[in-house]
Amino acid sequence: MGKSGVTAWSCPANIAVVKYWGKKGVQLPVNPSISMSLSKCYTETTIEYRENKNTDGPTFIFQFDGMKYAPFESRINEFLKVAAREMNALKNLHLDITSVNSFPHSSGIASSASSFSSIAMCLCIINSEISGNVEDAKYSLQRASSLARLGSGSACRSVYGGWVLWGKTSGITGSSDTRAIPVNEFVHNNFLDYYDAILIISSGEKKISSSRGHMLMETSPWKRIRETTGRSNAIKILDALKRGNMTDFRVITEHEAFNLHAMFMVSDPHFILMDPGTLQVLKKIEEFRDETGIECCFTLDAGPNVHLLYPSSERTRILSFINTELIHYCENKRWIDDKIGNGPEPI
Ligand code: DP6
Repeated sequence: MGKSGVTAWSCPANIAVVKYWGKKGVQLPVNPSISMSLSKCYTETTIEYRENKNTDGPTFIFQFDGMKYAPFESRINEFLKVAAREMNALKNLHLDITSVNSFPHSSGIASSASSFSSIAMCLCIINSEISGNVEDAKYSLQRASSLARLGSGSACRSVYGGWVLWGKTSGITGSSDTRAIPVNEFVHNNFLDYYDAILIISSGEKKISSSRGHMLMETSPWKRIRETTGRSNAIKILDALKRGNMTDFRVITEHEAFNLHAMFMVSDPHFILMDPGTLQVLKKIEEFRDETGIECCFTLDAGPNVHLLYPSSERTRILSFINTELIHYCENKRWIDDKIGNGPEPI
């Protein structure tokens, strides 16, 4: 009987405040990105493995929420081929992979970051169990981040909790294009108990995948400008996070959200991922801020839903604002009351 075992990890979704949009080389980012790992939105992945000597594998079966999920299966197939090139021990294995999301598939929240990071965490453990190489925890997370990146770029940030930077950034030791690093040690207290209210404007399927969107950036005349903007915003927001400066943080975060959607709207062919409700909510948030002076801000991912970011000190007033003013714009009054999280956990 060959080697066999089971390992399971939970990894968070993350919300980027400086966006990864545009790639170079092998799944490397054109500019650095910075995100906050969430707490309530995560993927749990369990992988049972057993030796299967007769394949140049690994072979696998993938189930998502208890069912076969074809669109993700071919991505996982590609990812496992790449992973087996990085980690020889995976070649002669059969893997039974099951993933479950804490958030409904129809919530419009991208699950590729939490999915690929949890698969990558499991694969790194399996590799060290089979090969007998026990790596120290720091190195093993670096390896998991770099592996997760090959599945989905933003997944490399989900290997850590709190605030995470991906991409070589001047002045930040250890920053790299191949993997993410946590930056919590120099983040001000103002941002360490930070909330993300995810307002579900529409839960429909995305009109265009992120991978296709990144591809359209290749030929975009705005590519170079996006690179410069993203790079300088990354440096500026890290400084705001350090100083605890909410105003600077807000200005950069909102600029990044619009910059991302502007890239969608000027690509060829163009695409619009905001819904009318998205703009209505953004305007409401601006009005609320003007009236109250509360330093909350919004960001958008590649979809219509609005992420309303705010510090714990404003929680009571923000909750009442959501319930009185914003909830009517949410599909079936749905929103997710999330916050900064601690990162992956073994299960
Ligand atoms: C808009 O990581 O989903 O969410 O590497 O092709 O899988 P692939 O793309 P993906 O792109 C994420 C884009 C984004 C911004 C971000 O999270 O930084």
